[in-house]
Amino acid sequence: MNIRQQLNDIFQTAMTAAGIPADCSPAVAPAKKAGFGDYQANGAMAAAKKVGSNPRELAAKIIDNLGEQPMIEKVEIAGPGFINIHLSDTWLAETLAAARADERLNIASAAEPLTAVLDYSHPNLAKEMHVGHLRTTIIGDALARLLEFQGHTVIRQNHMGDWGTQFGMLLAHLADQMENQDAEVALADLEVFYREAKVRFDEEEGFADRAREYVVKLQGGDVDCLKLWQRFIDISISHAEEIYDKLKVTLKRSDVYAESQYNDDLPVLVKDLIDRGIAVEDQGAIVAFLPEMADKEGNPSVVIIQKKGGGYLYATTDLAAIRYRANVLKADRILYVVDARQSLHLQQAFTVARKAGYIADEQTLEHCAFGTMMGDDGKPFKTRTGGTVKLAALLDEAVERATALVAAKNPDLSAEQQAEIGRVVGIGAVKYADLSKTRTNDYVFNWDSMLAFEGNTAPYLQYAYTRVRSIFRRAGVEPSALTGEIKLGTDAERALAIKLNQFGEVLDQVAKDTFPHVLCTYLYELASAYMGFYEACPVLKEGVSEEDKQSRLQLCDLVARTLATGLDLLGIEVLEQM
Ligand code: ARG
Repeated sequence: MNIRQQLNDIFQTAMTAAGIPADCSPAVAPAKKAGFGDYQANGAMAAAKKVGSNPRELAAKIIDNLGEQPMIEKVEIAGPGFINIHLSDTWLAETLAAARADERLNIASAAEPLTAVLDYSHPNLAKEMHVGHLRTTIIGDALARLLEFQGHTVIRQNHMGDWGTQFGMLLAHLADQMENQDAEVALADLEVFYREAKVRFDEEEGFADRAREYVVKLQGGDVDCLKLWQRFIDISISHAEEIYDKLKVTLKRSDVYAESQYNDDLPVLVKDLIDRGIAVEDQGAIVAFLPEMADKEGNPSVVIIQKKGGGYLYATTDLAAIRYRANVLKADRILYVVDARQSLHLQQAFTVARKAGYIADEQTLEHCAFGTMMGDDGKPFKTRTGGTVKLAALLDEAVERATALVAAKNPDLSAEQQAEIGRVVGIGAVKYADLSKTRTNDYVFNWDSMLAFEGNTAPYLQYAYTRVRSIFRRAGVEPSALTGEIKLGTDAERALAIKLNQFGEVLDQVAKDTFPHVLCTYLYELASAYMGFYEACPVLKEGVSEEDKQSRLQLCDLVARTLATGLDLLGIEVLEQM
């Protein structure tokens, strides 16, 4: 259990003993300012209102009922009834020692492991992956790693767009191309391929009809047509996998559960929705009206489940996916890392699924929405000529830029070393720049700020890690050989100890709210607390007692391991030297 929870439990018990009703929360939170203790219990005010007593008196009563608590050094009442909590140094040091002795830094696995289905990345295979898929891939992968680290079962679902009428035009074009070249060659650049097919569709006599024939054949299950489609899909997936490999995201081919996999279920689903009275016929289409999502005028929200000609839509597939995830995958949480602009679509699908009983009350549907990636001009990120930026090119540029910076900083390293550091820093910078911003906001993509070695960036944190590790090389000692107790003699050591101990509660919070920037902020604050410590407390300087040295090196070790673990959960690599 993390510190905050432990304190919360202690204060909850004390509140009950003080006769306060159980639905009053102690509201324990880390202290916002120095001088107000390490944590605060702010629940006395609300509780006093509820039972009609004086908040300061009630706070005193809570304190009287605390009993002997090894965690707590002392408490004091402040202001209208805040309780400032000072943690015990002995307890803090012991907790750190326990963390050091544990591979997982003493981060407990979730008491109730859940099954989380995580829908992320999900490119459309008709086209090359573009920057629009960067955020979902990065954020989704960080959440997957973190939930798994916490002991939850994560089922990755790469809901790739591999179906739809545009495949008619693409397959017709591919069939022609394959008369004189390999499919791989024809599809080397999906963007170009798509454009060519579109031009033919719009301009070439007879091509549109052939495209439509392909759609009919594909939907009718024509074997040759399906083979061609499968070829197209396989090649497109390998394009996506090149990106996954560059990004070092954990998605595997077996995580692909694409839209087409729901095809057989769509007619069944539509019939079921009609039978349940959720969907009705309206002007030839099958539609669900949702009064619970009505607009200001009271008009119900309308979801088309099946088009007039019998075609299915994005929403139909998503409903089938919810049913599958809830019933077959038995998800406790279903998380959609999807662009905020799809919020209405998802809310509609969620609402229909709930009404139809496709998902139980205790199973959650969560839209982890993210904003748009913007260019420096404040408009959605585009190439200079206004085209969509391809992910592969963007990532290559990140690595190139980082390698140039590293080469300038460290001209003595071999070109090979520079390239490897450049790769780790460049990819880390792109990922961290995205993860460190509140995901629901739009964010401005800027090379200079993400690659800066100062501030809340990947290079800064990666470098902080390397610096901490270099102390062990200079000291000529392995962390495993350190002995003696951790002592928290100075304010800087104490501040660092508290930060280190907060890792667990930060992870819990991110797992619950799915905002990875909270972990980034924490790691940045940890690195800053370390800098403060490093300035105030010499580690290897002459005159430092052996006892202090051993204690401080243990703190260094914990900082390095916490930074590395935290960055790893964000999908960011660290280096021993940079
Ligand atoms: N392929 C879609 C797109 O690129 C995103 C899919 C999101 N997931 C879902 N279950 N709808 O816009």
